[in-house]
Amino acid sequence: MRSKTVFVCTECGNEFPKWMGKCTACGSWNTLVEETVITGRQNGAKKRGGGSAAGFDAVGQDSVPRRLSEISTEEEPRIPTGLSEFDRVLGGGLVPGSLVLLGGDPGIGKSTILLQICSHMGGERKILYVSGEESLRQIKLRADRLGVSCDNLKIYSETNTENIIEYISREKPEILVVDSVQTMFNPNLEPAPGSVSQIRDVAAMLMRVAKTFSIATFLVGHVTKEGSIAGPKILEHIVDCVLYFEGDRNRAYRIIRAIKNRFGSTNEIGVFEMGPNGLDEVKNPSSAMLSGRPVNVPGSCIACTMEGTRPVLAEIQALATPTAFGNPRRMTTGVDFNRAVMLMAILEKHAGIRLSAYDTYINVVGGLRMTEPAADLAIVLAIASVFKNKPVPENVAAAGEVGLTGEIRSCSFIENRIQEAEKMGFGKIIVPHIDVRAAKRYNNIEVCQYSNILQILKNVF
Ligand SMILES: Nc1ncnc2c1ncn2[C@@H]1O[C@H](COP(=O)(O)OP(=O)(O)O)[C@@H](O)[C@H]1O
Ligand SMILES: [Mg+2]
Repeated sequence: MRSKTVFVCTECGNEFPKWMGKCTACGSWNTLVEETVITGRQNGAKKRGGGSAAGFDAVGQDSVPRRLSEISTEEEPRIPTGLSEFDRVLGGGLVPGSLVLLGGDPGIGKSTILLQICSHMGGERKILYVSGEESLRQIKLRADRLGVSCDNLKIYSETNTENIIEYISREKPEILVVDSVQTMFNPNLEPAPGSVSQIRDVAAMLMRVAKTFSIATFLVGHVTKEGSIAGPKILEHIVDCVLYFEGDRNRAYRIIRAIKNRFGSTNEIGVFEMGPNGLDEVKNPSSAMLSGRPVNVPGSCIACTMEGTRPVLAEIQALATPTAFGNPRRMTTGVDFNRAVMLMAILEKHAGIRLSAYDTYINVVGGLRMTEPAADLAIVLAIASVFKNKPVPENVAAAGEVGLTGEIRSCSFIENRIQEAEKMGFGKIIVPHIDVRAAKRYNNIEVCQYSNILQILKNVF
């Protein structure tokens, strides 16, 4: 048995004999880290594979090619998690045998939500919660605080994957939580827990167990300071579903977003609020996002964006102050920076708003991230409002994409957006002119259709 040093890319997981500045496999810069691996263990490795394969015979009956027509297409059965917001993100509930990776900043509430889900699902199902981060006592204290008590839920404070597998093969739980994948380790591998080889091994092993015994598995993943899940990208490729827990730690709202989902859409978000009793669902995100907003002050406008199939209203705020130095400063939170800079350029060119002499800041209230171009109109209105020092009337919402010539372009789901604004008590919504679907009459909301920003600015201010 000999050990040798290799360099592993943290992005793609490829191994190299020497260090390089750039990974030649995936092209990322400065991602190779040094790791020690044991060689000359082929026999041992085979035995290991064969030994642990006693319980799980790889993919079983699926390992024969079949005709498409022979494959049954029954709906995957789903296990409700007890939190409808979480079910929505998963695409209607948890699929047995699937692997779900949950990433997020420290303290955002990953362990909390998983413990809550376990208590909801633990009625008639056996659940194993493996924690490599907290002691049994710490988990018990949290469970008491959250009011979780469930006899089918077993807590296991362990990091050695061999012991975990051994326990799972014996007890066959239906739901497994591993908190976190970075703390688990295979004692047969040399590198420390959290290294690329360990994470890759742990994930592959859990995948095998999940598929063999049809265990729905949650993996908690740490995130790096860039915000992606720590470890090789292949971790995200292995699992069926990648969820990110986002939100401002200092504020109560938390959003779960699916980045990858083999069993549903990746557009849905689940909104939660952190309280002393854990995470509560926010069934109506619009009213949560709009609560406490200032009325009739310049620099604020309500955008109506779609999060998956659900319209959400949120406040966009803008601030413009004279530039002290030559270069004006731009800063955005919650909207795409480049998109915001483009909208400022459009305002400067087509509406004569001299933003080049102003530092401009844009913020989406409530920690929401708006990636949709339909938020353009509200951004433009918020900036114009602060610049002209005139408020956008408090009962006005806006949805529409702004083009480079200052035209207002159509956006999808216009009817849903109008209905949401109507439901939330808005009296007026500004939408693109070309959307014929918007021309329908609504009882409690006036739909104002415009074709370019100059028209809007003239009429609103
Ligand atoms: N006694 C408490 N009362 C209210 N909130 C608490 C309490 N203890 C912890 N929290 C909240 O729970 C969060 C920790 O959640 P946790 O699930 O441990 O996060 P993660 O597992 O993502 O690191 C804290 O950031 C805090 O907001
Ligand atoms: Mg935790």
